[in-house]
Amino acid sequence: MACVNPMLNHPPKVVLDTEEIIVLQAQLGEWANLNHLLICKKTKDAVIVDPFDGKYWHDVCNKNGWSLGSAWLTHSHWDHTKGVEEAQQIGGENFKIYVHQNEMQRGWQGPHTNLFTCAEMSSEKVMVGQLNFTAHCTPGHTPGHITFIGHGLVLSGDCLFLGRCGRCDLFGGSANKQRQTLRYLREILTTLNSSDIVLPGHQYVLQDGTLPSMMDVGTLLLSNSAILAIDDDQAWDSLDFLAFDDSMAEKAKRQRTRNS
Ligand SMILES: [Fe+2]
Repeated sequence: MACVNPMLNHPPKVVLDTEEIIVLQAQLGEWANLNHLLICKKTKDAVIVDPFDGKYWHDVCNKNGWSLGSAWLTHSHWDHTKGVEEAQQIGGENFKIYVHQNEMQRGWQGPHTNLFTCAEMSSEKVMVGQLNFTAHCTPGHTPGHITFIGHGLVLSGDCLFLGRCGRCDLFGGSANKQRQTLRYLREILTTLNSSDIVLPGHQYVLQDGTLPSMMDVGTLLLSNSAILAIDDDQAWDSLDFLAFDDSMAEKAKRQRTRNS
């Protein structure tokens, strides 16, 4: 079992600990963000997915003898990238930041060293230590959103939450793309073991009032309200979480106007 950092006020929890991989999860910040640390047990190399706090994860790795050498970004919204610069500063010049090139379409200007270039709804390989993952371009929430799949895990960012999907009305988002993405992801998820684990980018309350931070693939495919609506136009159009009437939607409208 992994030894997490007992000195932290809010230590991460162990999601998975096998012969090959350790996975840690922590909810950080006021927006219910979930961060995930993947560690290759053989090489002790680690990657942080969507770091909210760079120092927090370097402290965890230093305490456990792991080398935090890279960050993988599911997408470039601020709450998924807030800790990237600090993680890079602490990690030094060899620290790698992976993000899909299509995130530039929504104005991402933050640090990045490695660009994913796969077409929408296709994939490419990415490694941490000796662990192979597949990075799938899953647009809709943002133009270059990535879902990482491998080793019994689906890291779905803001593309696919446990009970629903992410909103599509922010700048660079598209409900039509999101529907195509969910069809693409459903095809892939049905080929995985039903006991594989989905790890989303936020920990949100489900309709039954529970607040899980992970869910097995089988349960998600049978219960996720966005997945269940993708084959029916009326059901899809009636989903109330694809767009919201709030200040972020207003900002996106202004950005679209400026760019039209
Ligand atoms: Fe987001």
